[in-house]
Amino acid sequence: MGVKAAVAKKPAATAGDVKDFALAPRGKGRIEWADGQMPVLRQIRARFEREKPLKGQRIAACLHVTTETSNLMRAFVAGGAEVALCASNPLSTQDDNAASLVKDYGIATYAIRGEDPETYYRHIHQALDLKPTLTLDDGADLVTCIHQKRTELIKGLLASMEETTTGVIRLRAMAKDGALKIPVVSVNDAQTKFMFDNRYGTGQSTLDGIIRATNILIAGRNIVVAGYGWCGRGFASRARGLGAKVFVTEVEPIRALEATMDGFPVVPMAEAARLGEIFCTVTGNKAVIRREHFEVMRDGAIVANSGHFNVELDLEALAALAKKVNKNVRENVDQYLLKDGRSLYVLGEGRLVNLACAEGHPAAVMDMSFATQALMTEWCVKNRSKLKAEVIDVPKDVEQTIARLKLATMGLSIDEMTPEQKKYVESWQEGT
Ligand code: ADE
Repeated sequence: MGVKAAVAKKPAATAGDVKDFALAPRGKGRIEWADGQMPVLRQIRARFEREKPLKGQRIAACLHVTTETSNLMRAFVAGGAEVALCASNPLSTQDDNAASLVKDYGIATYAIRGEDPETYYRHIHQALDLKPTLTLDDGADLVTCIHQKRTELIKGLLASMEETTTGVIRLRAMAKDGALKIPVVSVNDAQTKFMFDNRYGTGQSTLDGIIRATNILIAGRNIVVAGYGWCGRGFASRARGLGAKVFVTEVEPIRALEATMDGFPVVPMAEAARLGEIFCTVTGNKAVIRREHFEVMRDGAIVANSGHFNVELDLEALAALAKKVNKNVRENVDQYLLKDGRSLYVLGEGRLVNLACAEGHPAAVMDMSFATQALMTEWCVKNRSKLKAEVIDVPKDVEQTIARLKLATMGLSIDEMTPEQKKYVESWQEGT
């Protein structure tokens, strides 16, 4: 990463480690702008303010430090909690936003865009120094750190929430091995999260990141998307909407079939590597694009990742093929000049392109994800005596509450079943 965290001058009142407090006014304006797009979370915050359901709770959150996350933190504070926030990715922090969180909202924030690995992990420990009763993760870094290095915190923890697919996969593996010691809610698996955030959020923000970094025309381009989960589906459909010819690679046969019937050519990466002009991985797996693929890519190909960890592109293999790496030929674009004379371009150092090169998902979609986080945090406090050290799904009634609130804020109403219809769907005797 190379950027050493600057020692920031901070106001004495609130703890935190941010880049520059002079950025706070810009951050405040952007937090308020995002708030305007998050009506469901706003309603929850207003209720939390009245009812204080989180009174006495200490919440440590390891999330992308964006303006949307700031509004979730505000909801927790309104609910009576004490909060500490650190980043879930070294390149996704918005420094103006982090400065404002500390300065204007008094929320302890430990996050600096471009922080080196040592600073990244120090910030995780600083957030955990709050001795949380609840944690929130986007990629399971807090839970992993608690289980490996801060085991003294386990007994004081009611539960943890997990925001992303990659984190939930890790946690389910821990639960299967009997290694999970705290209850975790898989917020990612709520329909109010993955059907909207993963699909429409990732779909739009990934393209946003690619376009902001490169300013290239999408129409008429061959775009390869690796992975046809919810994020891949969203990205493929949005790229097609902008006129790209989209190829899909998959390892899972049902998803591959779905992509085919959605009208996308499905090919192995070995073939796609020769065709693509822009590549984006969204698989959650490692080394999806590797040496043999880089070897056959066209000169000028652009490579990005929108999966949680920066392991989907084998950048070590790419570096080994290069005679020179020119960093930041444009902001967030590194040129790998290969020994055979071709150039390949990597966006955002292979980290999630939507957050490293743009602002992440739009607030209107994070409204639903973070409403789910807020309500499940409250739910965990209410149900604390019943929670076990396992992966817990979001209850249907919570999902439906959020969907109804979102519809109402969009000015939409839906039908209700008649008593006759209700009886019909609940009975097994009635036939044709
Ligand atoms: N993940 C993707 N987009 C995000 C955003 N805008 N804020 C927080 N987490 C995100």
